[in-house]
Amino acid sequence: MPENNDTIQEKDIVRLKDKVFRLSFSEEFILTAVQCVADRMNQELRNKNPLFLGMLNGAFIYAADLMRRITIPAEISFVKFASYSGTSSTGCTEQLIGLRENLNGRTVVVVEDIVDSGYTMQQFTKYLHAHGVGEIYISTLLHKPHATKYPVRLDYVAMEIPNDFIVGYGLDYEGYGRNLRGIYTLVE
Ligand code: IMP
Ligand code: MG
Repeated sequence: MPENNDTIQEKDIVRLKDKVFRLSFSEEFILTAVQCVADRMNQELRNKNPLFLGMLNGAFIYAADLMRRITIPAEISFVKFASYSGTSSTGCTEQLIGLRENLNGRTVVVVEDIVDSGYTMQQFTKYLHAHGVGEIYISTLLHKPHATKYPVRLDYVAMEIPNDFIVGYGLDYEGYGRNLRGIYTLVE
């Protein structure tokens, strides 16, 4: 039998590099929110044969949990479009990599980890429109409504959170913390 290491991750406090984070949302809570989003998608996107596009790196866990709750015909692919380092948005987007699918006329569901300023999603939406996408739905695990600088229509938001820096469930602080099962907030 493998040893159960869960206790290390289930503690309420984690240290990543020079910072301390406290548990805000348990895995169970998150998965309930993900199921609600999947239920809506299974209703609203049936007969649309959607192409889910997961935004790497942060959305890899959300995409995996969401996709396994999708019961309608759907494809998934991943792209990388980074705009963030450290604990504040740099505002400068890097190159988009990984997109090989023909998007012409497709229903695309963007799967993002978190919408902060909205810059990444606004840029990506423009890109998708320029590449002939039929219709775009944006799904984000987390939304910080008070951080909005670049408004964008969000169709599926699993959880709204305050304007704090968080890690876990795919999200990182300088590369660490993505493997945490819950979501943790920076302790100032
Ligand atoms: P935006 O372009 O300002 O909306 O930032 C979106 C991206 O910034 C997300 O895809 C995340 O990768 C990253 N990000 C924003 N807020 C946080 C946070 O609190 N923790 C970790 N990453 C974040
Ligand atoms: Mg991201």
